[in-house]
Amino acid sequence: MVSIYGKNGQWKDGSRVALVTGASGAIGKAIARGIAGTPGNEVVLLCRNEMKARQACQEIIQATGNGAVRYEVADVSRWSSIQGLAKRWHGPLHVLVNNAAVTPKRREETPEGIELQFATNVLGYFWMIQAFTDHLRRSAPARVVNVASQWAGDLDLNDLEFRRRRYTNGEAYRQSKQANRMLTVALAERLKPSGISVNACHPGNVNSPLSNNLGFGGSQTPDEGARTPVWLAVSPTGQKVTGKYFDRMQEVRCPFAEDRKAIAALYEACLRFSDA
Ligand SMILES: NC(=O)c1ccc[n+]([C@@H]2O[C@H](COP(=O)([O-])OP(=O)(O)OC[C@H]3O[C@@H](n4cnc5c(N)ncnc54)[C@H](OP(=O)(O)O)[C@@H]3O)[C@@H](O)[C@H]2O)c1
Repeated sequence: MVSIYGKNGQWKDGSRVALVTGASGAIGKAIARGIAGTPGNEVVLLCRNEMKARQACQEIIQATGNGAVRYEVADVSRWSSIQGLAKRWHGPLHVLVNNAAVTPKRREETPEGIELQFATNVLGYFWMIQAFTDHLRRSAPARVVNVASQWAGDLDLNDLEFRRRRYTNGEAYRQSKQANRMLTVALAERLKPSGISVNACHPGNVNSPLSNNLGFGGSQTPDEGARTPVWLAVSPTGQKVTGKYFDRMQEVRCPFAEDRKAIAALYEACLRFSDA
């Protein structure tokens, strides 16, 4: 069988393939557009709603003139849906951007009984990386960009799903964004030997369903909000550096990256959900 990979994991004509989750949303669509607008990139939009996916694809193709934009439909809050996507994926994957997230005002659960923000915002990122590690490894050098937030904190390792605490969407969100930053460190260490970098970033403050649910408007355009994630996805820095947190295209010290015991405990906790 003829290999579909060229030298150094390059795809066919040397272009690179990027997968962006939540790519029909405000920042996700701008990230996908930014990567598609950078020469040499194919982009796959991962959305849960096929109509929105098709519409976003058309918009991005029209805006960038890059015809190598397509979509996949999957629900990142569900392990089985991500597994299905990873199994039907063929060809390389050089860049995975984890961006899809939710902020429901009331506590909700997935059909598997996992609190929805934890399932989508935390496990969704974790499961995507797990499920696509082999694809990324075969395409290395490869990279993962985790869209986190500067609004993060109050993670409770004994109550990750708000079963004991009273649920507020702001608290559950802040916890999930702290977890994104902590898991970035854990996964960067594990994936470094495979030539896969993993970094996290704050995007920008953008008006979106997610931010509106939290009571915020947002002063930046989606393109401004996408600037740092796009830069991590396409620049040499996003490959060279790993396990770090960025804001405005600058590496920023992350206090959550320093608690090694908590990072290990969170990683173990996520592993226990890995066949939910
Ligand atoms: N907006 C801000 O000011 C801000 C600030 C800091 C960080 N962030 C981060 O930026 C990222 C994007 O946020 P945003 O403001 O662009 O939010 P958004 O416009 O609400 O977009 C969220 C996207 O995630 C998708 N999604 C949600 N659950 C999903 C699931 N189970 N499976 C697949 N896709 C799913 C949504 O799909 P549907 O379109 O079908 O709903 C939507 O496309 C998030 O990680 C957020 O934490 C945002």
